[in-house]
Amino acid sequence: MRTKNNGELRLSDVGSKVTLCGWVAKKRDLGGLVFIDLRDRWGITQIVVQPSNPNYETAFNLKSEYVIMVEGKVIERENKNKNLPTGDIEVEADTLKVLSTAEMPPLLIQDNTDALEDTRLKYRYLDLRRPSMQKNLILRHRAAMSIRNYFDEHEFIEVETPVFGKSTPEGARDFLVPSRVHKGCFYALPQSPQLYKQLLMVAGMERYLQITKCFRDEDLRADRQLEFTQVDVEMSFVDEQDVQDMIEGLLVRVWKDTLNMDIKTPFIRMSWDDAMNNYGSDKPDTRFEMLLKDISDVAANTECSFFKDNINNGGRVKCIVANAATKYSRKELDRLTMLAKKYHAGGLAWLKLENNELSGSVAKFFNEDNKKALINKLGLVDNDLVLIVSDKLANCNTALGALRLTLGRELDMIDNDKFNFLWVVDWPLFEFSEEENRWVAAHHPFTSPKNGHEDLLLTDQEHCHAKAYDIVLNGYELGGGSIRIHDQNIQDKMFKAIGLTEEEIKNKFGYFVDALKFGTPPHGGLAIGFDRLVMLLTKANNIREVIAFPKVNSAKCLMSGAPTEVTEQQLDELGIQIKHE
Ligand code: AMO
Repeated sequence: MRTKNNGELRLSDVGSKVTLCGWVAKKRDLGGLVFIDLRDRWGITQIVVQPSNPNYETAFNLKSEYVIMVEGKVIERENKNKNLPTGDIEVEADTLKVLSTAEMPPLLIQDNTDALEDTRLKYRYLDLRRPSMQKNLILRHRAAMSIRNYFDEHEFIEVETPVFGKSTPEGARDFLVPSRVHKGCFYALPQSPQLYKQLLMVAGMERYLQITKCFRDEDLRADRQLEFTQVDVEMSFVDEQDVQDMIEGLLVRVWKDTLNMDIKTPFIRMSWDDAMNNYGSDKPDTRFEMLLKDISDVAANTECSFFKDNINNGGRVKCIVANAATKYSRKELDRLTMLAKKYHAGGLAWLKLENNELSGSVAKFFNEDNKKALINKLGLVDNDLVLIVSDKLANCNTALGALRLTLGRELDMIDNDKFNFLWVVDWPLFEFSEEENRWVAAHHPFTSPKNGHEDLLLTDQEHCHAKAYDIVLNGYELGGGSIRIHDQNIQDKMFKAIGLTEEEIKNKFGYFVDALKFGTPPHGGLAIGFDRLVMLLTKANNIREVIAFPKVNSAKCLMSGAPTEVTEQQLDELGIQIKHE
């Protein structure tokens, strides 16, 4: 229908005849002339309609978001618009035709819309007309192309795996799909293609890639959706370094192809222990310092009984320091205390160094020597605020990690132009489940222990580490993976360590464990959260900004209303009866 799009006409086109299509972004009438900003995915072109034009009346009556077709001549503009790529020209309409009318849109279709997010999501198709949203989806597409090209060049093949399957081992809650044919039986939607990709290695595919949907019934957050997309990768005959090198190459390529930005490799490797102890997080944001410090030795010498009791019980006293004593009033510190408690700390103590005086909630327990020791240990300077948590080490770390991020943001310490990648390595293979009072696999039970840690599988789960790695970017877990177990004996030990009986193994993963007996190559891989990747590339603050039709935190789609009730007949066919509370 059209000969040009609305983003491409320049001075060099002046004099040519064109046909343009698009939406009416704006219409003004000035001195008898009608000016239209005509918008499509590529941009905006100004159309001018003279009073003498046979379609003048139509143009005059146009409303926002009408879809029109304009034929006309490209002319040089008198008042050029430097902010618009097409701002040197306009198209003088010969004919103008309305292709489709539009009701008054419930939101402003422009980048800085004032619409609430609920309205944007209810009318998502209108929200997606906004140039910034189109940019996000286009960048998403560019990233996917870049990823596919990169892997294709490295001889990976994309293999699709089933969506209707058996429960997968990622550890979140499954989405279940009832079978009509096998009443009372359910398919589980994949939390990831983990087992299938390992089976593809047994099948000799060597290098597998899939950009695929995964489904997890978990609470939604800014970086979490019920259905999300993974860039899922698996390779045979590799160690950790091989996988990491391949992924670094991928990220370099994606940043170049999408942002034309060079990122430096190799990325830093940080052990899980260091990440937890220094940043209080397994996904440290390294764009700013403010590291966690252990002050147990100083605290043990003070008169503070809750410090001492905690240390005697094996706990630690840790802190962070920010040069912001004057910025944080009592009330503000109460707010931070609430935050620390939310992250499992028993409480939050604080000290301020102002005019060489140490004051604060625990200052009275510090004698002169203690004060000096603390100032020396932390290198405190005037206006420093010390936030202290005394608790079990894990609680100190998580609470201070959360405070560190909050202070980093509130004190504007984070450079938003930076992309700080790092690998978090040497993960624990197990974590202790207080709920179940036993060790469970920290990731999934096919993760290989580190070399030399095989013997710890059954004897010392706490200190048994995994050949697992996460790729972290700016405080987000971008992806995670591991080298898998390919040795039968080790797999058996692993199952034993997490207390799975023969019966349970057979029921849960029988088909998979059987497959491993038929010649399994050493293999490993990783999955990147594609939505998160695009969110970080676009610097969006929520994953919803880069997903065409996302769910809100209440797990609903505001546009379609899903999930909705179904008819009795549908339920009958599935042999399902709803339990009403
Ligand atoms: P994992 O469970 O760490 O590993 O998931 C990999 C990556 O997927 C992204 N992700 C999510 N993104 C949006 N919403 C969610 N609910 C969500 N859950 C996870 C994250 C995460 O880092 N099979 C293994 C990978 C492997 O071992 O190869 C797996 O799924 O960015």
